[in-house]
Parts: sequence; C-alpha cells; structure tokens
Amino acid sequence: MDKFVIEGGKPLFGTVFAQSAKNSVLPLLAASVLTEEEVVIRETPKITDVTCMAKILEELGAQVVFRKGDVSIVSAGAKNHRIPSELTRELRSSVFMLGSLLSRFRRAECAYPGGCDIGLRPIDLHLNALARLGVRITEREGYISCSCDRLRGAEIALDFPSVGATENILLAAVLAEGKTVLGGAAKEPEIVDLQNFLNAMGANVHGAGTDVIEIVGAESLHGTVYTPIKDRIEAGSFLIACAVCGGEVEVAGVKPESLGLLLHKLRENGCKIHTKNDKIKIASYGRLKCNRKIETMPFPGFPTDLQAQATALNASCEGGALIVENLFETRYKYVPELLKMGADIEVKGRNAFVRGVERLHGAELVSGDLRGGAALILAALGAEGVSEVLDLSHVDRGYADLQGKLTALGAQIRRVTVP
Ligand code: UD1
Repeated sequence: MDKFVIEGGKPLFGTVFAQSAKNSVLPLLAASVLTEEEVVIRETPKITDVTCMAKILEELGAQVVFRKGDVSIVSAGAKNHRIPSELTRELRSSVFMLGSLLSRFRRAECAYPGGCDIGLRPIDLHLNALARLGVRITEREGYISCSCDRLRGAEIALDFPSVGATENILLAAVLAEGKTVLGGAAKEPEIVDLQNFLNAMGANVHGAGTDVIEIVGAESLHGTVYTPIKDRIEAGSFLIACAVCGGEVEVAGVKPESLGLLLHKLRENGCKIHTKNDKIKIASYGRLKCNRKIETMPFPGFPTDLQAQATALNASCEGGALIVENLFETRYKYVPELLKMGADIEVKGRNAFVRGVERLHGAELVSGDLRGGAALILAALGAEGVSEVLDLSHVDRGYADLQGKLTALGAQIRRVTVP
C-alpha cells in the first residue's frame, strides 16, 4: 500500500487541467452495453474506479481497450448478466449496471453494492423505480436478481433526488416500450452528461438538469465517440488546496457554474476568484476566515464530495464554522485524523463544529475513504512540518496522478511504496 510523504507549507502556483469526471465516466461505461456497436469514451481518467468498471464489463463478455487515454468498449460478445460479487462490493456504481443489463438482456444480477464506507447507502429508490418499469426483483443472501419480459415506460417519482437512481432509471428506460416521466430527478451536471451521451447513441431523453426528465424508449441504440465533462470535484479539490496553501492557481476545463456554491464559500473565506468560460482562477494570501456555515445538499447545493476538503480548509482559518452533512451519515471519519494535526473539531451527528486554529502540524494520517483522504492530503499540504498519508487506495479511486499535478504546482509530495 502506497503512502504520500508531504512537506507542508509550500504555496501553490500554476495551471492544472481537470480530468474527466469520474461520476460521468462510470455511468457512461455502464451505458456502453446498451449497444453492440463500438463506444469510445475519450480522455478517460486513470483511476481505479474506472479500471474496476472496465473489469465488470469484461466479466460480462465485453471487449475493453484503453488506448492513448481513451477507452473503447465493444459489447457485441457480452452474454453474462451477473456482476461478480467482489466487483460489485468494490464499486457501488456497478449498481447502474442493473438498468443497462435489463435493457440489454432483460435479466441482471448483482450483489449489494460497495464503494466508500460513508454510511448506509441503501438502493431502495433504484429497486422501486425498476419495479415501476416492470422489473421483477428477488433478493437472496445479499444477491439481487432482476428480470422482466419487456421494460415498459412509466411515471416515476423519486422521494429524494438520488444521483445513482436517476442514472439507473435513464439506463433502464432508454430502450423501454413507451414513455417514462421521472419526477424528483437529481439535477447534477453528470446527469446532463449522461443524457447527452445517450442521445448521441440515438436515445430520446429530455429535461436532465431539471426536476423532470422524459425518456421516450428507442428501438435500438448505436455506437458513439464521446468526450465527458470535466470533474468538478477534482477541480474543487485543487481550488481548496490553493486556498489552504496560499498562492495563485488556475483550474482549466471545468464550468464555473458547476461549482457555484464552492466559489461563493471560497470568496467568503477571503480568496479572490475570477472565472472565464471554463477556467477558474483563485488567489489566496494571508490567513483566511472561516465560513459561517456549510451545508451539503443535492446539486446545485454544496457537494457532499467537497465537504471533507472544505472542513480541512476551515480547520486553520480564523473564527469558527458549522459544517452540516445532509447526504451521508458517517462522512466525518477523517476528523479524528485532523485532530492528530492539532485541529479543533467536534462532531455531533450530522454537524461538525470547527474552531479554527492558527496552523495545523504534520502527523501520520490514515486515509479511510476517497474524499476524506483528499482532505487529509490538503491539510498536510498546508500544515507545518512533514506528514505521512497512509493507504492511497481510496484516493486512487478518484484522483488521477494527484502527486504529479500537485508537484507541478509547487507542492512537496512524494509517493512511497510501502512493502
Ligand atoms: C453519487 C456520487 C457520489 C456523491 C453522491 C451524492 C457517483 C458514482 N457517485 O452517489 O460521489 O457523493 O452521488 O452527490 O455518481 N439513497 C437512498 N436510497 C437509494 C439511493 C440513495 O436512501 O436507493 C440515499 C443515500 O443513502 C444518500 C442519498 O440518497 O443519503 C444520496 O445518494 P445518491 O444521490 O444516490 O448518491 P450515489 O448515487 O450513491
């Protein structure tokens, strides 16, 4: 298991290009089995969640080839409809495969999904919606079996705008008989990207980015070459890194409106932010002020995937901050690690009360989940002295070449293989 050795206290300067969005690429990979023709997803990030999804596609019988940063999927030979349990548990997003596999084979089987250990993460919304589309579902010994004679369009209303359930419904409805109207849909930019991708394959999907999405089932879909949107969470992590360390950084490739609330919060901290087309420039000098309150919400609210990084920033700002995590129950597991660095944070249920300290100091830190791990790395970059961040397996799930990108901005960070 690799670790990072970080010497904190170096300001960051320069330009960083955002990778393609992990949370777009994963559903696009799932969608690739909706056609037997070749699908090419351009500029795929080298992250282990993508490798894991590629393995799942191969297990199903698809040919997956990574070529010069792109990935080509030909699923003509796919015949398996069962996702191996170890891969489902490794990657929660594999649950999207249920919708795709049902569209393709009218059958699908997977284990209860895995992913980051950040709370219960049930999939009742996914299963109820699939049942509305005519799917029979049985659950036995941790395995979910789905089958249908024909998927049929339906009116579905989600009680909560779940990102994954919205995506799964799109994947199940694009080849269904008739029209599906989905109310209470998630509005994340990655949903819009999935709609655009499916339409590029010949689907009829409209309304993504609003509460109501309409899908008129198509007879069949065809191959396509598609470039996904850039990763707003990776981009946001670099902006927060600059806020923590001081300096001036430009993040290129990402649409500023996809990070609206983060930019507002960084201005509140005292950072200067300039946006132009798909570039965001941040300048951070001197001690910043705490945000009064940051509350995570579905898009366009503050993203839960940037909560940990924002808490790490507030930990050494002046004043106090209240952080409220509304999406996942146990998303503060990184806080005890920040305490080792001298942070003053008290967690009570979904609230974290941060009292900013003058400076964090280096410590040995254990990364327990993807975004929590990123938060520890950012805290270490801004801290006095040397830190070690152990177990990079979580961070590798979502950040491609994090060390290379941070080093190019002037950070002192080494990756060390622990035998
Ligand atoms: C996606 C993102 C993840 C992000 C999250 C919230 C991907 C691959 N992952 O995860 O990075 O943190 O959105 O923005 O895109 N819920 C239910 N029942 C369900 C489904 C969800 O109760 O059937 C609850 C969850 O427990 C959670 C909330 O809804 O409290 C949000 O989950 P959801 O939007 O589904 O997140 P994911 O799609 O898993």
